[in-house]
Amino acid sequence: MEKTKPIKRHVALQPLSRQHHFGLLFSWKLRKGFHKNIETKRLQQYAKWFFKHEIEPHFKDEEKYLFPILEADNELIERALKEHRRLKRLFNNTKDPERSLHQLEEELDAHIRFEERVLFNEIQKVATEAQLKKIEEIHSNLEETPEYDDPFWE
Ligand SMILES: [Fe+2]
Ligand SMILES: [Fe+2]
Repeated sequence: MEKTKPIKRHVALQPLSRQHHFGLLFSWKLRKGFHKNIETKRLQQYAKWFFKHEIEPHFKDEEKYLFPILEADNELIERALKEHRRLKRLFNNTKDPERSLHQLEEELDAHIRFEERVLFNEIQKVATEAQLKKIEEIHSNLEETPEYDDPFWE
């Protein structure tokens, strides 16, 4: 396997990277739920809660402050926006929740890894100090997400 030197995450992007960690945890918890045969309704409730508290604000921040740093027709941005649309649909699909939850578990992971390994590196390469400073200010006082009251994964 090709070894690439990890690029140090710029301090301005660290809060969003921390949220990525919670996103990966969300997928891990869903997987736990599948293995433990937790009923779909409970998993769905959790996904709904996570979307509202974490995913929706995270996507909005990325789309508003981060993605415009690259050109709108940049193929990485096009891919990221397409994946946001797809993930939102999966989070909000009530017709076939079981299938959607399984797809979510996989596709959220993949989206986060794409951003961490490719997109964020590209953005911090081209961003000006002023752009990064602005992102840093916006995210310096992010509120913490409350605990979820039904930890089915434990
Ligand atoms: Fe994203
Ligand atoms: Fe993200």
